[in-house]
Amino acid sequence: MVKVPVKIVSWDEIVEWTRGLSQKIKDSGWTPDVVVAVARGGYVPARLLCDFLDITDLLSVQSQHWTEAARAAEKAILKYPYKVDMEGKNVLVVDDIVDTGETLLLARDYIRREWRPVEVKVAALQWISQVAKFEPDYYYLEVRDWTWFQYPWTRLEDLQQFIARILREDERFKDRDEVSLAELVDVFVEWYGVKPEDFGDYWELAISRLREKGYRLK
Ligand code: ADE
Repeated sequence: MVKVPVKIVSWDEIVEWTRGLSQKIKDSGWTPDVVVAVARGGYVPARLLCDFLDITDLLSVQSQHWTEAARAAEKAILKYPYKVDMEGKNVLVVDDIVDTGETLLLARDYIRREWRPVEVKVAALQWISQVAKFEPDYYYLEVRDWTWFQYPWTRLEDLQQFIARILREDERFKDRDEVSLAELVDVFVEWYGVKPEDFGDYWELAISRLREKGYRLK
């Protein structure tokens, strides 16, 4: 049984999905004046949306999960809050995915309260309907079973985290000095349901990075 279901998303899918999303926005009859990308996941979709919707004004806010020292719960915060005047503007806030939706809600509410636009709407490529706290105004795909979507802009970061998690949590690797790549590959497929070769050159890159960081992979 796969522990963390992973779907690797290609650049072509990203373009197709964002184009589909832009069509839904057009069809709704609502026209944004300004796009706000929620960093970091919203950058690429937001930039592509600007292209498909013919919008030149693109800004960004960074919304992050922050572990509160006193509690196990995580809280979303805006990392670099700033104010701009959005009087008379329609603002579209864009992210890659609405999972719990917390970071996006925080960004939307902040912009609504502090930037005072005419209207704020939210768009995402994907919406995980079973776990999300809200439904975005626009989305391209509804996801029913929770999956980790491995987007092309975080290949290296995600791969390193996937591998590090196995080394930290899998009983077979706990308290081990060294782990061979052959062993790692088998367990990787077991955990994530995808193969190292599905990541092309990124697998080697991730292994090198982890070795540089002190992981003993032989
Ligand atoms: N960011 C937050 N949730 C995610 C998911 N399920 N897949 C990819 N990126 C995410």
